[in-house]
Amino acid sequence: MISRLLILGGSGDLTARYLMPALAELQAGGQLPEGLRVTGVGRDEWDDERFGEFAAEALRRHAPAHVGGSHDALLAALSWRTADVTDADRLGRLVGESDEPVVVYLALPPAVFAPVVDALCRIRLPSGSVLVVEKPFGTDLDSARDLNERLSALLPEEAVFRLDHVLAKQTVQNILGLRFANRVFEPIWSHAHVSQVDIVWDETLALEGRAGYYDRAGALRDMVQNHLLQLLALVAMEPPTGMGQRDLRERKVDVLRATRALTSDETDHPSVRARYTAGELGGAQVPDYTSEEGVDPRRGTETFTEATLAVDNWRWAGTLFTLRTGKALAGDRTEIVLRFHEVPHRVFPVDTAPEANTLRLRLGPDQIRLRVNLNTSEDLFTLEPGELALSLAPPQLSAYARLLLDILHRDATLSIRGDEAEESWRIVQPILDSWARDEVPLATYPAGSSGPGSSP
Ligand code: BG6
Repeated sequence: MISRLLILGGSGDLTARYLMPALAELQAGGQLPEGLRVTGVGRDEWDDERFGEFAAEALRRHAPAHVGGSHDALLAALSWRTADVTDADRLGRLVGESDEPVVVYLALPPAVFAPVVDALCRIRLPSGSVLVVEKPFGTDLDSARDLNERLSALLPEEAVFRLDHVLAKQTVQNILGLRFANRVFEPIWSHAHVSQVDIVWDETLALEGRAGYYDRAGALRDMVQNHLLQLLALVAMEPPTGMGQRDLRERKVDVLRATRALTSDETDHPSVRARYTAGELGGAQVPDYTSEEGVDPRRGTETFTEATLAVDNWRWAGTLFTLRTGKALAGDRTEIVLRFHEVPHRVFPVDTAPEANTLRLRLGPDQIRLRVNLNTSEDLFTLEPGELALSLAPPQLSAYARLLLDILHRDATLSIRGDEAEESWRIVQPILDSWARDEVPLATYPAGSSGPGSSP
């Protein structure tokens, strides 16, 4: 297990919101390596004490409620180094403070990933070291390829962790359990029975002061290119031979390679883009997106998007995959919905026609719901829909804690492989291109509404 963690961008939001709470969770569970040392690195003229205060405040604000008790042992493991993270000499001295393998965590804005990786290429990382890159991995297909090339000069693929925290969520892993540990679902998991798969990630969250990043990203780059396509990959992939990192990642890449966005020749609305206007959400007023501090309206950034995809392979030919996500919407809803074909023959009177079955896999709170048709108690020949629902216990580890643990163990099963990141960009690139050519108008929706149009 690696026991040295270097957080480049140690004074940032990601460190405060996710890394410190994740470390505290692991500490509470006794899962941190003996003698762990965590060094925050950044331009701020801080010292160890100041970094400790920052971490303590982060833990007060963001550590999960169940992680009570003292964080003294964690705080004692922290130290701070002031440095320009693109300066190879300085990085070399920092890394060279010990010969032990190190986790170099890039908790940095994506714009500096490339110069930092170049600087790291000029120094020697101790054998067994790993590098962690946060999403977004590039801004388009070309930049992702470029970043992959730089990374391959630095470390072997299995030592590069491209994170997508969604993969470490419990329900997401349950997709695999449901599909591959039960006899009943897999035989009907194909175009022969499933007409459409909706992958929905609606958020009530608005911009939350993230304009610096979000206004350059937008919903398609922020959510679809990574989180939603990862969900699609797990739902649509072929059964892996086992749960090893090679099996799982190869099956995901296979299905992403078969996936493409529909074109305007195939459907009237291959994609939708929209952004929110002022509205009311949960009793509070949300300002128009374009009036938020740091937003440049000329960028035309979307806060909502929908896209229809096809998976061109034997299993899924003809099944539609719709992906939808947006911010400042009426409710929080993250779910994957499999919509089944209607029954081949109706045996009940037509006015009690059965509804097509649906299987919903919901994230947060985690639930699995299967909608079926049953006879009513009053009349044997009348039908009514009912639901078989299973609520799952909250996960023991948050997604970030789980990922951090995997990183310290050098287990890349839940990280995104380089070619996988590129395939995901290849899928969204035609949509980005059609938007750049202004072929899809930018619609609006009031904050607190259900979005700009019909929703799956
Ligand atoms: C992040 C996106 O990756 O995922 C955010 O940048 C989004 O815009 C978030 O709100 C959603 O994930 P979670 O786990 O916080 O619901």
